[in-house]
Amino acid sequence: MGIKLGLVGLGTFGSAFAPLFASHPLVDSIVLCDAEADRIEKNAALPAVAAKLSGKMLTIDEFCRTDCDGAVVMTQPQLHAPQCIKILESGKYVYSAVPVISCPDDGEILDWCGKIIDTVQRTGMEYMLGETTIYRPQTMFCRRMARQGLFGDFVYAEAEYAHDLDSECSLREVQQRRSTGKIGEKLAEAMRPYREKGFKSHPMSYPTHSVSGVVDVMRSKPISVSAIGYRNANNDPYFKNYDFSNIVAFFRMDNGASFRAAEMREISSNIGLAGEDLRIFGTRGSYSLNEWRDNGRILPTPEKKPNKLVRYTPEEMRDPLPEEVSSAFRKALDIKDGDSDFVPSGHGGSHPYLVHEFVSAVAERRRPEISAWDAAMYMAMGVAAHKSACRDGEIVPVPDFGKTW
Ligand SMILES: NC(=O)c1ccc[n+]([C@@H]2O[C@H](COP(=O)([O-])OP(=O)(O)OC[C@H]3O[C@@H](n4cnc5c(N)ncnc54)[C@H](O)[C@@H]3O)[C@@H](O)[C@H]2O)c1
Repeated sequence: MGIKLGLVGLGTFGSAFAPLFASHPLVDSIVLCDAEADRIEKNAALPAVAAKLSGKMLTIDEFCRTDCDGAVVMTQPQLHAPQCIKILESGKYVYSAVPVISCPDDGEILDWCGKIIDTVQRTGMEYMLGETTIYRPQTMFCRRMARQGLFGDFVYAEAEYAHDLDSECSLREVQQRRSTGKIGEKLAEAMRPYREKGFKSHPMSYPTHSVSGVVDVMRSKPISVSAIGYRNANNDPYFKNYDFSNIVAFFRMDNGASFRAAEMREISSNIGLAGEDLRIFGTRGSYSLNEWRDNGRILPTPEKKPNKLVRYTPEEMRDPLPEEVSSAFRKALDIKDGDSDFVPSGHGGSHPYLVHEFVSAVAERRRPEISAWDAAMYMAMGVAAHKSACRDGEIVPVPDFGKTW
């Protein structure tokens, strides 16, 4: 018997995921929840969703009373943490879109992370952060190489999320869209107390795209950080309530490596690279820009160690999905057999993997990848980086929520 899943929040992002969650072979039944009835109807009409639809509801309270096994929360980021806790407490596994919570008060971000961990421990339900970076092809490839020990010892890594506010996915438009509708129009008012207390927004309150991949590949905890912030210099109204529009952070990791992470919201392009990318270097193997270099060194020997270079395509770097899962996704996305193979799409092809991981974790009643502890670690890295940037690069410790791999 399969599982019963609720999709909570059916805006732009939730709608992109709805056919994937609905078509997964382990999902028997789907419930749709959004405050906006027209968004429910739009998703209910999708063939993959219609085939398994068992309920429609306008509120999370009503959803919590269902007998669903799990919920996928894709509401506005300011709302995630309290909504996820409420749903966990109603006896359901939770998948949350990133970040854990969006909030100008860094102390409150850490409090919410702690509360989610407490709720997971108290209820026995599990939390998964839907971090797309974890299932980008380069992260999957590096993870496989790392688990085989092919990096040797990690020495250095860098990663960045460079999303300029006026890029193709305009942050001004995203902000405007998320501030409309029954829920959205209340959000500006909810920010007022923070502004009155002088809290400022900053890009490291949403650090997950830059920090998560490297941490996940290395399986190493951050110890301390020094960070430098860039302040918007042309009075752009978008950054009115920001102290920094960009923050670059340098972490000391507990495996002896150093890691430079950058969160940029005001930069014309990512230093000639993709908007989101990572590069990871070890004593034996290194990954950068779809290339793997391996010098074969295991033990100290006097011979030269020239690198052998292999170049990979994104398709070669991805993990395989089970055939029945990819074929169900292919059908849901109307990719005709024989037309093409299933090429995962959405944030580097990560969406189908996130769906498969969460659904499998619910069905198997196990802890998912990107657990509450992983999520808290990523958020703590951002909070610590911001604290350091506010102190002009002072080295500050990264709060530790306790994590065992
Ligand atoms: N790469 C990534 O991982 C990535 C990319 C894009 C978006 N996101 C995340 O996805 C989330 C959703 O973004 P979006 O652009 O789709 O937002 P959106 O504003 O388009 O949609 C949010 C939906 O949630 C609904 N909602 C909120 N609270 C509700 C409640 N209490 N009851 C019922 N419905 C409720 C709203 O009515 C709205 O339809 C955000 O948190 C964002 O950070 C992540």
